[in-house]
Amino acid sequence: MPAADTSADPAARPRTVITFGTFDVLHVGHIRILKRAAALGDRLVVGVSADALNEKKKGRAPVFSQDERVEIVSSLAFVDEVFVEESLELKRDYIVEHRADVLAMGDDWKGRFDFVSDLCEVVYFPRTPSVSTTELIEHIANTA
Ligand code: CTP
Repeated sequence: MPAADTSADPAARPRTVITFGTFDVLHVGHIRILKRAAALGDRLVVGVSADALNEKKKGRAPVFSQDERVEIVSSLAFVDEVFVEESLELKRDYIVEHRADVLAMGDDWKGRFDFVSDLCEVVYFPRTPSVSTTELIEHIANTA
C-alpha cells in the first residue's frame, strides 16, 4: 500500500526551525541560540552565510571559510541540516524550500525578519551578552 500523503497536514510532519548567521569563530552565544532554536521544534536547519555575502554584510572576510563553517555547524548534535545562504534577498525562498515552521534569530535582528511572518512564526531570542565574533577577533589581535 502506498504511504499516505501527509505533506498537507502540518501536524503530521516534523516542526522545522530555521535560522541564519555567519557562525564564524564559533562561540557560546552561537551555541546558545542554536540550542534554543532547536528546542522550538523537531528539526533545526541552519543557513550559514556564504563568504561573499559575509564580506558584503560585515565588510571583512570571515576567519573560517564557508566550507569550514558548514562543517563546524553541521557537527553540532542539535543541528540537523546546514546550507549556504548565498543571498539575503532569498530568505523567503529558503523558508519555503526547507518547509520551515519557525524562523529564530537573536534580538539584534528584532523586527527585521517580521516580513516573513506570513510564511512562518518569527521568534527573537535575547542575545548572549558580552560575546561576539567581531569582539573576539579584536581581542585576539590586541593580545597577540
Ligand atoms: N548571537 C547571539 N548572541 C551573541 C552573538 C550572536 O545570540 N552574543 C546570535 C545572533 O543574534 C545570530 C546568530 O547568533 O542570530 C549568528 O550571529 P553571527 O552574526 O554569526 O555572530 P556574531 O558573534 O554576532 O558575529 P559578529 O560579531 O561578526 O557580528
